Amino acid sequence: MPTHSAQREPQPEPRVHGAPVMARGLLVILGASGDLTKRLLMPALYNLACDGLLAEDFAIIGMARQEWTHEEFRLSQRQGMEKFSTRRSADAARWQWLESRLYYTPGEFDDPAAYARLKELMVEVGEQTGAAGNTLLYLAISPDFFGLVNQQLAAAGFANLAGGCRLIVEKPFGKDLSSARALNAALLERWSEEQIYRIDHYLGKETVQNLLAFRLANPLFAPLWNARHIDHIQISATETVGVETRGEYYDRTGVVRDMLQNHLMQMLAYVCMEPPATLDPDAVREAKSALLKAVRVPDEAALATDCVRGQYGEGVRTDGTSVAAYRSEPHVGQDSNTETFAAIKLHIDNDRWAGMPVYLRSGKALWKRGTEIVVQFKAAADAPLGTAAGDPNLLIFHIQPLQGVEIRMHAKRPGPTFVLQRAGMRFDYAETFEASRGTGYEVLLYSALLGDPTLFSRTDFVETSWEIVQPVLNAWREHPAADYPNYRAGSWGPRAAEEMLERDGRHWHEILNPDVLKRSQLFATAPAVLLNTLLLAMRPLSVDAGTCVIERGATGGEMYVACRGELEALGASGQRVGLLREGDCFGEMALLFDQPRSATVRALSPCDLLVLGGEDFRRIMRDFPDAEADVRRVATQRRQHS
Ligand code: BG6
Repeated sequence: MPTHSAQREPQPEPRVHGAPVMARGLLVILGASGDLTKRLLMPALYNLACDGLLAEDFAIIGMARQEWTHEEFRLSQRQGMEKFSTRRSADAARWQWLESRLYYTPGEFDDPAAYARLKELMVEVGEQTGAAGNTLLYLAISPDFFGLVNQQLAAAGFANLAGGCRLIVEKPFGKDLSSARALNAALLERWSEEQIYRIDHYLGKETVQNLLAFRLANPLFAPLWNARHIDHIQISATETVGVETRGEYYDRTGVVRDMLQNHLMQMLAYVCMEPPATLDPDAVREAKSALLKAVRVPDEAALATDCVRGQYGEGVRTDGTSVAAYRSEPHVGQDSNTETFAAIKLHIDNDRWAGMPVYLRSGKALWKRGTEIVVQFKAAADAPLGTAAGDPNLLIFHIQPLQGVEIRMHAKRPGPTFVLQRAGMRFDYAETFEASRGTGYEVLLYSALLGDPTLFSRTDFVETSWEIVQPVLNAWREHPAADYPNYRAGSWGPRAAEEMLERDGRHWHEILNPDVLKRSQLFATAPAVLLNTLLLAMRPLSVDAGTCVIERGATGGEMYVACRGELEALGASGQRVGLLREGDCFGEMALLFDQPRSATVRALSPCDLLVLGGEDFRRIMRDFPDAEADVRRVATQRRQHS
C-alpha cells in the first residue's frame, strides 16, 4: 500500500455526455522551456481556449532553468505558436487571453528554493486569476530527472496542496520492468494512484479513442468479437522517418520500448478488452489491465519463432531521398544492436480470445507511414458463392494518417453475370466531421484538469506491459543480432516478419494509402475516391527472385504496385533500363493503350506486388470519365517523350 499522506482527489467531473464542462485551475509545467511545451502543449491549450473549454479562472506557470521573465516566456511561446499552431485560422483575441495567463519562474530542479519560489508564485497567480485550488503539475522533463523532481516536489509539500494536485508523467515510463517498478514505487510513496497521470499520447488520438466508441456504441459487432469469428488481428505502426536527431535516446531504447511497450499495448487493450459496463474511469482502466494480464508472456519457444527484430541499413525513400544506415546515424555506434523494427505474435489466454493470435509490428525507416489495426474475420467454410477463402472480410481501423474505419467485403458487380468484387464500406473522419486538427494533447490536458484519469495509465497497466516485453528485451540483449542491418531503409522491413505470418498461413495486410498511387505520374492529380477504388480492386501477388512478371512484347492486361523487393526493367537487347522498388507502379501504359509491353520486368529479389486486372482498371476508369481523360493526357505525353 502507498504510504503517502496525500489528500483524496475530488471526484472527476463528467467528460462524457452533455455539454462540455469548462476546465479551471492552475497548470504548472516543469521543463516549460522545452520542445514539448512549444510544439504540443501550448497549441493544445490554445485549441482548448478557442473551443471555449478553458474557464476564466485558468492560468499556466512555467518553470525551467532559463532565466526568463514572464514576458520572455510569453514571447517564446508566441513565437512557438507561429510555427506549431494547428488551427486553420488564428484567433488573436483568444491567444491574447491565453498569453495573459502565462507566468514563469526560473529554477534548477535540484534547488529547494526554486520550489519554494514556485509555490509563492502559485499563490500569487492563484489569487490574481482565481485559478487556485486545482493544480496540475506537468513533468515535461527528461525521465532522468523524474526521481529528483518527485523528491523535491514532495519535500515542498506539493502532494497535499489545498484543492487537490495531480501529476502528469510523460513517457518513457521506465526503461524496463524493474526501473518501471522502482519509478512507480517512488511515485506512490508520495502521491496516491489517483493523483498520478501517466501519459501515452496515442490515447489522445481521436481514432484511438474511437476504438472505445466503436466497441461500446455499436452492438452490431459485439457477437462477432471473439476467436470463433475472428481469425487474427494485426496492429501495425510503421514510420518512414529514421531516428534523425534522436540517435542518443533511440540507441538506448529501440522500437520495443519506444512503441510496442506503450502505444501498441494501448491499442491492443482497447481492441481486445472485455467491454466495460460503464465509461467510468475505473471500469475502463480495469478492463484494459485485465486484458494485458491475460496476454501470454513469451516463453523460450515463442521468443525463437514469434519475435522478429530488424535494423535498417542504408536505402532510398520512395520520394528518392536517401537514408543513412541506422549504424551511421549521429550518436549511434557502428556495432549497435538496437532494433529499429519488431514484429511480435501474442496470444491472449482468456475465453474470448483463446487460440487467436494478435500480431504487433512497428518500425522506423519503412516504406510507408501508417498506423492501422486490421481485424481479419474467419472465412465461412462452405460459403455458397465460394467467396475467396483467401479474401476474407476485414475490419480496418485507420488510426493515421488516414483516419476512419473500413469494412472490406464482397459485392456483386453490376452486369448480367454473378461476379463478385471486393468493395469497401468506409467511414472517413475528414468527410464526416468538421473539426479543427488537434495535437492530441487537448483531450489529455482537458481530462487531467477535470480529474478524469480514463485516458491515463494505471500502475498495473504499465507494469504488465513491461512484463510482456521484458523477455524479448532480455533475449535480444543476450543474443546480439548477427544479421544487422537486415532491412533496407525505405522497404517493408525484414523478410523474417513476412515468414512469421507465412508459417501461420497468413500475410500482413499492407494497407495502402492513396498517396502510394499518387507517386505515379499518371495518378498524381487523380481524386482520392478514384485512387481508393483502384486500391480496393488490387489483389496481392508474391513472386520469387528471377520471376518474369512482364514479358516484353506481350499484350499485358494488368498493372502492378511493388510493395516489397526489387525488380529490373529490361529493354529490347536485354539491357537494364530501369530499377523498380517499393512504391513504384508499372504496367499501366499497356493497359491504357492496349499496346504490347515495351520492357520485360523481372524480380531481382522475392517480391510482394499488388496487381490490378485490366478489366477492373477499364471499368473503374469508365466510372470516372473526367479522371480518365486526365490520366490519358498524362500518359500520352509520357508516350510521346519516351
Ligand atoms: C513516440 C516515439 O512516442 O511516438 C517516436 O518516441 C515515434 O519514436 C512517435 O515516432 C510516433 O508517434 P505518432 O503520433 O507520430 O504515431
